[in-house]
Amino acid sequence: MSRIERLGVIGAGVMGAGLAENAAAEGLEVVLVDISEEILKSCKTGIQQSLRFKGMFNKESGSSAASPPEEIIEKIRFTTDYAEISEVDFLVENATEKIEIKKEVYRCVGENLAATTVIAANTSCFSITRLGSLIPAPKRLLGIHFMNPVPMKKTVEMIRGHWTTEETISTAREFLAQLGKHGILVNDSPGFVSNRVLMLTINEAVLVLQDGVSTAEDVDEIFKSCFGHKMGPLETADLIGLDTILYSIEVLHESFADSKYRPAPLLKRMVDAGLLGRKSNSGFYNYGRKVN
Ligand SMILES: NC(=O)c1ccc[n+]([C@@H]2O[C@H](COP(=O)([O-])OP(=O)(O)OC[C@H]3O[C@@H](n4cnc5c(N)ncnc54)[C@H](O)[C@@H]3O)[C@@H](O)[C@H]2O)c1
Repeated sequence: MSRIERLGVIGAGVMGAGLAENAAAEGLEVVLVDISEEILKSCKTGIQQSLRFKGMFNKESGSSAASPPEEIIEKIRFTTDYAEISEVDFLVENATEKIEIKKEVYRCVGENLAATTVIAANTSCFSITRLGSLIPAPKRLLGIHFMNPVPMKKTVEMIRGHWTTEETISTAREFLAQLGKHGILVNDSPGFVSNRVLMLTINEAVLVLQDGVSTAEDVDEIFKSCFGHKMGPLETADLIGLDTILYSIEVLHESFADSKYRPAPLLKRMVDAGLLGRKSNSGFYNYGRKVN
């Protein structure tokens, strides 16, 4: 298949913003769709800041590899209009991890996307077969579970849904290669490999904190110093977003009907209180003044 020139990205949150930045920096034209102008404005500011920061770093290290930030941001079209995805060559869906939201998104995608375009669902936990059932041609949908922050993570998890074809997987591999990434392919199951294990670990770490067994700092330090992990589970939760963690564990709870995935009450309380981690400036840790 020929090179992907135009990418559609649904959702301008943590993952959609990272993916749009990454793809535009690699020279792709990006159509980024979200539900409100305000969200898109804040997303644009966040991408501009990220690109400026990386530009400064490149200058200091003497690298001239990347295009200027203004040129990269020009490649992203920020819009609330789903009709604009009609001409994209590949689409990645990154909307909120709630089934009613995914249903609405795939309805709009089904109405506006060309019949031949491959769709990658960047979900944390939903079964890819279940998401595929929301569009007319599930053979064109696969899961690509990007890692956060997207521009920095070279490996992704790829998920084959029940109807996903080899052609769809090979198109997705070529798209990933354009971004300098590669995928590890797994079969469909809620949470796949990564989040079936990670979400349970994070949830249990929250229960440990809730039970007063240790502080957040020490929980994380044990994982870093004793197990050699780069980040502890609570720091990771702040990076992902506590709302996304809660929704993901709820999806696992519902999908497997297994009480081991019951969300920690402290996690629920923190989400209700608006303590969402880095994106709200405060979670298990504080992150200073919010900039956008
Ligand atoms: N945060 C992570 O580390 C991470 C990693 C991998 C995958 N994911 C998955 O990626 C997806 C997005 O996660 P996120 O962390 O970016 O969430 P987020 O809450 O930061 O962003 C979700 C975005 O979806 C938008 N949205 C809601 N309804 C929409 C609609 N009808 N049309 C278009 N946009 C809509 C919201 O306005 C919001 O901007 C989720 O499925 C999540 O599970 C998250």
